[in-house]
Amino acid sequence: MVAESRLLPDDLIAPLFVREGISEPQPIVSLPGVVQHTVESLRGEVARLRDLGVPAVILFGVPEAKDPTGSGAWDPDGIVQIALRDLRDEFADDVVLIADLCVDEYTDHGHCGVLADDGTVDNDATLEIYEQIAVAQAEAGADIVAPSGMMDGQVMAIRDALDEEGFEQVAILAYAAKYASALYGPFRDAVDVTIAGGGDRKAYQQDWRNAREAMEEIRADVGEGADIVMVKPALPYLDILTRARAELDIPLAAYHVSGEYAMVKAAAERGWIDGVAVALEQITAIKRAGADLILTYFAAELAEIL
Ligand code: PBG
Repeated sequence: MVAESRLLPDDLIAPLFVREGISEPQPIVSLPGVVQHTVESLRGEVARLRDLGVPAVILFGVPEAKDPTGSGAWDPDGIVQIALRDLRDEFADDVVLIADLCVDEYTDHGHCGVLADDGTVDNDATLEIYEQIAVAQAEAGADIVAPSGMMDGQVMAIRDALDEEGFEQVAILAYAAKYASALYGPFRDAVDVTIAGGGDRKAYQQDWRNAREAMEEIRADVGEGADIVMVKPALPYLDILTRARAELDIPLAAYHVSGEYAMVKAAAERGWIDGVAVALEQITAIKRAGADLILTYFAAELAEIL
């Protein structure tokens, strides 16, 4: 009766992986219960989520071939575009389709942008690529595009490109405060990404020692036209969520990432914790801290008990 926050299936967004060139879903060892889908098995999973009351999915593609610019990300026959068209046909407007917008799954060097001659990520050249990806995803049926590469100016560039092509109604979910976290490890297994030369993303993702700087990143994305802003990962950054919630009146999302999920699953497998109880506690805490929407690999499992 006195509960201040209540988690509901419609707070949840399920991250899903779709892989080109496979005929059976492939398990992801470091993400127990999560698979790389075929287009067909993806359709089945989205139907299950819809029946459980989960309103949205976010798609990540795993292409067969990678190249320096990540061209599979905007190819009309790239795996995510194929999956978007298929899901749009199957589900019409029953499920909100979100497309992660980045090139790291598609580049042979694993960075979220194209590289300059000196090997650093070229921010502005990358924006031109993001614009093409946004339009390709919108054409394929995405309701929302979600730029995750943390390039400066990415939201404005994508907004302009979408508007110019007549996709004014496609919304932007901006990964606004995305930290250079060690918690993305299992995700990089899921999308077969190794950053060239043992590199990292510290040149473009946020320093986890900083909170004020994250607020500046969030404000910048709101100013550039983001419709929803996201904090990622979630649990170590509840303070950022609470600050953002106090300052903003647009929807706020949080991403409970692969490492956060894998830790719960690993401890539960050993019988050290009750996995479902911990998941419910953690995801509810993210809502309590201020998130309206939570991306989590627990989406189906939690929706089943809510
Ligand atoms: C980048 C992207 C990443 C995640 C979502 N989008 C990985 C990264 O920045 O290395 C991580 C999600 C997770 O760990 O669950 N396209």
